This record gives sequence, structure tokens and C-alpha cells, in this order.
Amino acid sequence: MIKMLHLTFVLLTLAAFGGKMFISVARPALLDHKAVKIAPHVISSLLLLTGIILVFQGNWRAGDYGWLVAKIIVLFGFIGLGIMAMRSEGTNRWLAFGGAIACFIYIGIVAVSKNAFFFL
Ligand code: HEM
Repeated sequence: MIKMLHLTFVLLTLAAFGGKMFISVARPALLDHKAVKIAPHVISSLLLLTGIILVFQGNWRAGDYGWLVAKIIVLFGFIGLGIMAMRSEGTNRWLAFGGAIACFIYIGIVAVSKNAFFFL
């Protein structure tokens, strides 16, 4: 149940990030709209909250939680690059956007494979 919620917020986070990038290109004036400002924060807070609940639900005594640490470290990368993508302009903006999406994909694959080094 919580996992379904978590996955829902994963998709909503991606949609909100992509949507905000689209709005900033197509209709920048909308960025000042209250809903556009607040909704992404509500969604990502709920993603974090459901993730934390899942951590408490898990059985971590096996010591097999390296993937979770990797997930959280790369999450900081996703947040940082996401902020850069919203604040910078030109090529840097799109490089940051691409980097953020790469972090997001990495986090998703690590979550499913439970292996931080799935690419090796
Ligand atoms: C961009 C952010 C995130 C993405 C894309 C993401 C993605 C996913 C996905 C796809 C799963 C399902 C894996 C499966 O098939 O079993 C999952 C599960 C999980 N996630 Fe996240 N997640 C994110 C953020 C977080 C955060 C911030 C936390 C913790 C603070 C977290 C903790 C967990 C835990 C504990 C599970 C359950 C693993 C299990 O019991 O099988 N996630 N996540």
C-alpha cells in the first residue's frame, strides 16, 4: 500500500519537474502562480515521507541497505541539479536538467535492483 503511494509520488515528482520545466519555457508567467510554486514541494515531501515510512517498514538487520544509501546520496544530486535547472539559463539549464533526469533514472533502477552498482 505505502509502496504504491511511493511509486505514485515517484511518477508525480517526475511529472511536476518536467511540467515546471515545460512551463518555464512555454509560459514563464505561470511560474508565479501559487499552485505551480507549491504543488511540486507538496509532492516531493510526500515522496520523501512515503520513502521514510518504507524504510521503517523494512527489515534492515540483514545489513543489505547499501542501495538505500546510494539512493539517498543520488537524491541530493537530483535535488541540486533540479534547482540548477530551474535557476540557470541556456545550455547549463539543459545540462542540469539532463543530469537530474539521469539521477532520477539511477535512483529508480537502484530501487528495483537493490544494487547500487547494477551497471558493473
Ligand atoms: C527520486 C526519488 C525516488 C525514486 C525515483 C524512488 C523509486 C522507488 C521505486 C521504483 C521503488 C520500488 C522498488 C521495487 O520494485 O521494489 C522504491 C521503493 C523504496 N523506496 Fe524509493 N524512490 C525515491 C525516493 C526514496 C526516498 C527518499 C527514500 C527513503 C528515504 C526511499 C525509500 C524506499 C524504500 C525503503 C523502498 C522499498 C524497498 C522494498 O522494501 O522493496 N525512496 N523507490
